[in-house]
Amino acid sequence: MDFLPIFVNIKHRNCLVVGGGEVAARKIALLLRAGAHITIIAPELCTELSEQLREQLPRGAITHRAEAFRPDHMGDAVLVIAATGDPVVNREVSEAAGQLHIPVNVVDNPALCSFIMPSIVDRSPVLVAVSSGGASPVLARLLRARLETMIPAAYGRLAAYAAGFRERVKSHFSHPGKRRIFWEKALQGPFAEMVFAGRDRAAQDYLERSLESEADEAVQGEVYLVGAGPGDPELLTFRAMRLMQQADVVVYDRLVSPEILDMVRRDASRIYAGKERSKHVMPQESINELLVRLAKEGKRVLRLKGGDPFIFGRGGEEIETLAGQGIPFQVVPGITAASGAASYAGIPLTHRDYAQSCIFVTGHLKDGSVNLDWLMLARPNQTIVIYMGLLGLPVLCRQLIAHGLSATTPAAIVQQASTRNQRVLTGTLETLPDLTETAHLTPPTLIIVGEVVKLHQRLAWFEPEGDLRAGEPAASKKV
Ligand SMILES: C[S@@+](CC[C@H](N)C(=O)[O-])C[C@H]1O[C@@H](n2cnc3c(N)ncnc32)[C@H](O)[C@@H]1O
Repeated sequence: MDFLPIFVNIKHRNCLVVGGGEVAARKIALLLRAGAHITIIAPELCTELSEQLREQLPRGAITHRAEAFRPDHMGDAVLVIAATGDPVVNREVSEAAGQLHIPVNVVDNPALCSFIMPSIVDRSPVLVAVSSGGASPVLARLLRARLETMIPAAYGRLAAYAAGFRERVKSHFSHPGKRRIFWEKALQGPFAEMVFAGRDRAAQDYLERSLESEADEAVQGEVYLVGAGPGDPELLTFRAMRLMQQADVVVYDRLVSPEILDMVRRDASRIYAGKERSKHVMPQESINELLVRLAKEGKRVLRLKGGDPFIFGRGGEEIETLAGQGIPFQVVPGITAASGAASYAGIPLTHRDYAQSCIFVTGHLKDGSVNLDWLMLARPNQTIVIYMGLLGLPVLCRQLIAHGLSATTPAAIVQQASTRNQRVLTGTLETLPDLTETAHLTPPTLIIVGEVVKLHQRLAWFEPEGDLRAGEPAASKKV
């Protein structure tokens, strides 16, 4: 982060605005909404500010000094804004504030600012602030416009209601976890809808009744086994997103991308469970026991796994242990690497002209060997997707050829599918092992074998880091 997002209380505190034009007027309007006392330093005021000064409410909130700026104007200001349009004066203001360690914002000059003003969505007391760190104010404004349409206007009233009920709820539930669950239900359920619809009396009755019907007992823990997909956060399901916001603790694997982990509730504890080939940070049995222990402590545990938890994910083993211990759980499917890699590489897994079936296999067996049903795999008109196959690739290709597939059968390897580091290398069963050897791929990688691979040339649409085809140098295309 280039800036720390904070909300500052400036109620009844003095703020200095240097400049009397329209830009200054906009900043002053905002400071007034936050309850500040404002001193304007400007030889002249624009019409808007002059009117504002004449009609100001509350009285005395704005003082105007028709003078040129001097450093001693800083006085006891807690915040300074320079909006003069004169670069020399703006610099003087910034330096004077800097010397006194007073936060200063110089309009349209991030280099002279110690704080920047975000775009805001105001549903007071709820405020959403959006900033691009000065990189693209227009982008921040566009995002703000989208948020405006998504956040109901009555959110402020909802928050005010919650504030009025907070102490009652606090004294009703001694367990903080139970309190949070009560509010999560209330703020997403019929109570919120009634407030949005302006049915305030009904909303209040409903909240009273809900509170009375909820006993103050220990929270029953549960586990959410959630598939995080192949990497692109946009491939998460709605349910995954919702549970990610509810969890108290997240136990995650190496394949869960940092962008996705970042979307989990901020104050949920994070436990890394590892799972790198032959470098398992935590043995599977310990993970199973950990989930049970956390749930028994009353926690809502998010078990976040790459791809789909039920496809080469050992999700079955984890919930078997939970089921055995009577711990409630739910499973949320994710987009498995095969679907993610195929879509993002432009390789349909089935196609009426080339493949009528598709088979998923793992190229890495428990004992480290590669020992598959080669005859079943080496069938015509079938696509084979191989997970965890990078190390065994030469053996895999040799065996498929030995069991009847042509050496010229198209084959591809997809690195870090759906992420900015995606690379696709295509060749044949004969050439792919050597091509891979020199390409220095970074796991995870997925292998796709079959005639459908030919379609990649025409259907590739996502090529963030360049696309490697047999015999071609790496292109460097950026999206
Ligand atoms: C233990 S398996 C987990 C599979 C996961 N449960 C799924 O449904 O995708 C790990 C293997 O999945 C494949 N994989 C997972 N994510 C991938 C990605 N983004 N790109 C390519 N392969 C991926 C790789 O073959 C990796 O070795």
